[in-house]
Amino acid sequence: MRYTALNMRRALSALQPTNVLHIGNLFGALLPMVEAQKEFETFLFVVDYHAITVPQDPEKLRQSILFATAAYLAAGIDPKRTHMFQQSMVSQHTELAWILSCVAHMGELERMTQFKDKSAKQKTEGTSVGLFTYPILMAADILLYDTAVVPVGEDQKQHVELARDLAERFNKRFGKTFTIPEPRIQKMGARIMGLDDPSKKMSKSAESPKNFISLMDEPGVIRKKIMSAVTDSGSTIAFDAKRPAISNLITIMSLVSKRSVQAIENDYEGKGYGDFKKDLAELLVLYLQPLQAEINGYLANQDALVKILQKGAKEAEVIAQAKMQIVRKQIGVR
Ligand code: ADP
Ligand code: TRP
Repeated sequence: MRYTALNMRRALSALQPTNVLHIGNLFGALLPMVEAQKEFETFLFVVDYHAITVPQDPEKLRQSILFATAAYLAAGIDPKRTHMFQQSMVSQHTELAWILSCVAHMGELERMTQFKDKSAKQKTEGTSVGLFTYPILMAADILLYDTAVVPVGEDQKQHVELARDLAERFNKRFGKTFTIPEPRIQKMGARIMGLDDPSKKMSKSAESPKNFISLMDEPGVIRKKIMSAVTDSGSTIAFDAKRPAISNLITIMSLVSKRSVQAIENDYEGKGYGDFKKDLAELLVLYLQPLQAEINGYLANQDALVKILQKGAKEAEVIAQAKMQIVRKQIGVR
């Protein structure tokens, strides 16, 4: 049965297609979307047009789109409940992005911290205009579907707030058109920190692959990465904001074992990092193995993946087309 009751609120999220998805993406964005399927009409898509804001290889991009699709399915996204598609398959996203770019101000884009970070990294090759206007395309992604909630990790909050501001400005200028979206940020897992540097979030674009646990890491690699994760001074296994490294590892253990921080602290009273890290590595191996098997299973049938995306795009397009008719009228081009 499709969950498209007219009065159902909508939850929407999107991830960039990359050949690496890490446990931060899983806990911060993917699993919250799996949960959202119970309560909302859901949209989850692969933002391929966001991926081309930085230099990319076309063949790798094609592979990454399929990998991301397989990972969504393996994580528990059900294409019968969720409109699952590829952003470029629904052209209204870029059309609305243009209109919103005429509503957005330079100053508010200049304040986006992700742009500041990413453009600093791009220095040698030059920063694209698309990287600068990226948050506007994201606002279009969200506003096109009258999204009520946007499950994302902490780092995307600023972008969702921009989408809110643009919706409010547009509504004020042209009359009520868009729903004002709310970011939905998990209490736990919204900001998994880097294993090699717990002062920064875990990220696939970190310098060292030791920074993250990829969903596809093999057991030996997981063990090595966890055993070499940095630790803070002090030796107790206790959650403490002043000790970000152990707190991050406890958070990860709590998420994969579904046990509370308190229960974990009790388990390791009187024990050291060695025992704790060994157990964490084994828990992660057990947690990721079935997920990896499922991802590989989906990847073995690439035609089926493409069909799922095309079907989702058709569903999304019906909604997007209707919205764009209203938007074009409101701004006076029709
Ligand atoms: P990355 O920084 O690895 O490139 P993305 O920017 O592609 O990750 O993020 C995809 C989704 O995963 C976003 O919703 C983002 O908020 C979430 N996310 C990314 N990194 C983390 C993290 N370390 N902890 C929790 N959520 C994260
Ligand atoms: N900018 C997000 C990221 O880097 C991806 C994204 C694009 C997104 N459009 C979105 C997330 C719409 C939520 C809703 O992770």
